[in-house]
Amino acid sequence: MSLPVQIDTHIPNDWAQGEMLDDIRRTFTNHPKVLRPKWLYDDRGSELFDRITTLDEYYPTEAERSLLLDKASEIARRSGADTIIELGSGTSDKTRTLLDAFWVTEQLTTFIPVDVSEQTLVDASERLAERYPGLSVQAHVGDFTRHLGHLPHSGRRLVAFLGGTLGNFYQEERAAFLGAVADTLDTDDWILLGVDLVKDAQRLIDAYHDSEGVTAEFVTNVLSIINRELGGNLPLEQFDYVPLWDAQEERVDMRLRAAMPVTARIEALDLDVSFDEGEELRVEISTKFRQEKLSGELSAAGFDVEAFWTSSASEDGLLQDSDFALLLARRA
Ligand code: SAH
Ligand code: TRP
Repeated sequence: MSLPVQIDTHIPNDWAQGEMLDDIRRTFTNHPKVLRPKWLYDDRGSELFDRITTLDEYYPTEAERSLLLDKASEIARRSGADTIIELGSGTSDKTRTLLDAFWVTEQLTTFIPVDVSEQTLVDASERLAERYPGLSVQAHVGDFTRHLGHLPHSGRRLVAFLGGTLGNFYQEERAAFLGAVADTLDTDDWILLGVDLVKDAQRLIDAYHDSEGVTAEFVTNVLSIINRELGGNLPLEQFDYVPLWDAQEERVDMRLRAAMPVTARIEALDLDVSFDEGEELRVEISTKFRQEKLSGELSAAGFDVEAFWTSSASEDGLLQDSDFALLLARRA
């Protein structure tokens, strides 16, 4: 059966040979060595991330899901949106909660998921088209830091950016991103952010250092991606995964640390890479937020914050009060 899914691709087939070349060269020739998170999500990476979301230690997914369940109808009513654009949509699993609420009011015409991970995006889009017959699903294989300009301009739009992905930007990137989203929206369009909140350091560390080692595998997988795409021989087993809580910056900092002196070669870059023992590759950060500061950033980007909802403790004890938040804001 052919389903009404439209797929627009903004990432060329030789993406790895273009943008990745420059980016990874920068990573390995800079001090300190810093990676960009979008390279983490090949098929294997997306699969591992999906497993992370099912771990007991990784509280954000369930905290956000229960908040969405609670607030989705109100979000539908207050926004009046007929088009939902989801950035970094992944499997769009939790998003169904949101879509369900918009669907019952018959206000939803269009869903536009955007992700760099093509297969995950296509699978998710087909499932959604099946679940909501008549919904126009327009998937965009693209980079939300570069391709917002390709998104359609019609309808009353709500941009959803869930899963705490906003926290994966460094501060300056975050400001630029919020500004770029504001620029693509019209007055009275909306943004819905799902953000993780500052809390007890041990729970934060545990969420990024699970006992099954799935997170370590997810982070280390980025070395396999570089090896495969760029003809490298980075030795995965010579790196330890170290998540740190940076109390100053209020972010979890995920790093790979060379357990010994490491030398490797990346053929496509014609580059010899070396790490001193103990030297780290900064793979990803996950910033944790506070209401006042984040609301200030939204205002500065051109939004009026209309709601900030925090999640509640769960009976099974895995979730505590105010673990996670949803922020709803209108383009001023
Ligand atoms: N929204 C989902 C997935 C979060 S994981 C959730 O809440 O569970 C982050 C997602 O963003 C992944 O699917 C990844 O492929 C995607 N992603 C990461 N960087 C991206 C970028 N620059 N542009 C588009 N998608 C990106
Ligand atoms: N947006 C997710 C977060 O910040 C991404 C994520 C979850 C992640 N677990 C991770 C990124 C482990 C790197 C490593 O929570």
